[in-house]
Amino acid sequence: NGYFTYDPGFMSTAACESKLTYIDGGKGVLLHGGYPIEQLAKESDYLETCYLLLNGELPTASQKEEFVSIITNHTMVHENIARFFRGFRSDAHPMAIMCGVVGALSSFYHDSLDINNEEHRKISAHRLIAKMPTLAAMCHKHHVGQPFMYPSNKLSYSENFLHMMFGTPCDDPEVNPVLARAMDKIFLLHADHEQNASTSTVRLAGSSGANPFACIAAGIATLWGPAHGGANEAVLNMLEEIGSVDNIDKFVAKAKDKNDPFRLMGFGHRVYKNFDPRAKVMKETCDEVLKELGLENDPLLAIAKRLEQIALEDDYFIEKKLYPNVDFYSGIIMKAIGIPTDMFTVIFATGRTVGWIAHWHEMISSPYKIGRPRQLYTGYTPRDYVPIEER
Ligand code: CMC
Repeated sequence: NGYFTYDPGFMSTAACESKLTYIDGGKGVLLHGGYPIEQLAKESDYLETCYLLLNGELPTASQKEEFVSIITNHTMVHENIARFFRGFRSDAHPMAIMCGVVGALSSFYHDSLDINNEEHRKISAHRLIAKMPTLAAMCHKHHVGQPFMYPSNKLSYSENFLHMMFGTPCDDPEVNPVLARAMDKIFLLHADHEQNASTSTVRLAGSSGANPFACIAAGIATLWGPAHGGANEAVLNMLEEIGSVDNIDKFVAKAKDKNDPFRLMGFGHRVYKNFDPRAKVMKETCDEVLKELGLENDPLLAIAKRLEQIALEDDYFIEKKLYPNVDFYSGIIMKAIGIPTDMFTVIFATGRTVGWIAHWHEMISSPYKIGRPRQLYTGYTPRDYVPIEER
């Protein structure tokens, strides 16, 4: 049968080569195409970072203009997708809806699903990046029972998302630029993170030759879990459950108790064992948003700040190298903007779509094999079938 390396959780197995993203978890370094995330967050914007991930280089001014225009012109979804939405219960979790509608997009593009055709791959990537905010906002509108808002070509990617989330045909206020910038940062900081669970899922699904919409739907399903993208939603639920600064010690004790499965959501990371560089940028953005909205004294925020302080000073968290991760602060920002908690992971998925599709494209463009892990069999040795009446 041969010998296999046993590596549950892929703690030490590299499954592919990639040029997209570099992480040094010990030093808290994250680079896209060689550029530090801190510089991209400060100087670049989400769509420019998308271009970088898809093409390997930052765009020139004219390349950027063309790319932004292409994405802007692909933001609408087929009207039958709107009808598909209406089939879901209004209280359906938006991630459940996203798993369905993103996979269903492939049924609209039969003419451009040849994965061996580079033009087809490109247009699928553009469609996915462009349509994710539209679909995300449609989940929210479906839930609250308001009409779907069409995207507006006059707005930037992030402005457009907030317009489709919060505008109505009766009242479509101008988008606050501080909030639009914060949204753009959330998308940018989630753009890619090398071989995390959802990206590895997209690669594995893609290795069978599945179409990109189906692969991204698989990524969305994986992202949903609370140990991955679902953590931003879990952070807010946890802060609400803690309820008051006076209860924090009780929850911290639970998190430290080996016999209690409770974990502090938004703390710890498989790769970052020093700090999460995205969390640093997100924290600054969080302060800006709360100041802009006059929410510095928000009680939930007071709990979050105290929790952060305890975790940074407590021996358990120091020894286990558990730092606040990106989801800790992004949840607080989105809550302040007025985004419902169950939409948080959908927003993570929207930002991460470029990473998923860039990895899928990278894999398909080079020689690859179908992903097929082996196992250590721990079941019975051969035995004879027992007739049902003798069991
Ligand atoms: N609270 C309390 N204890 C923790 C936590 C936490 N948040 N995270 C890890 N530990 C402990 C864990 O109990 C274990 O202790 P011991 O060595 O005594 O068994 C030790 O730290 C190592 O944990 P692990 O689960 O073996 O580490 P991992 O690399 O497999 O898991 C993680 C990483 C992110 C799943 C985990 O830290 C966690 O569950 N965090 C909370 C959920 C969360 O915030 N996830 C978002 C991750 S960032 C966004 C993304 O990329 O998706």
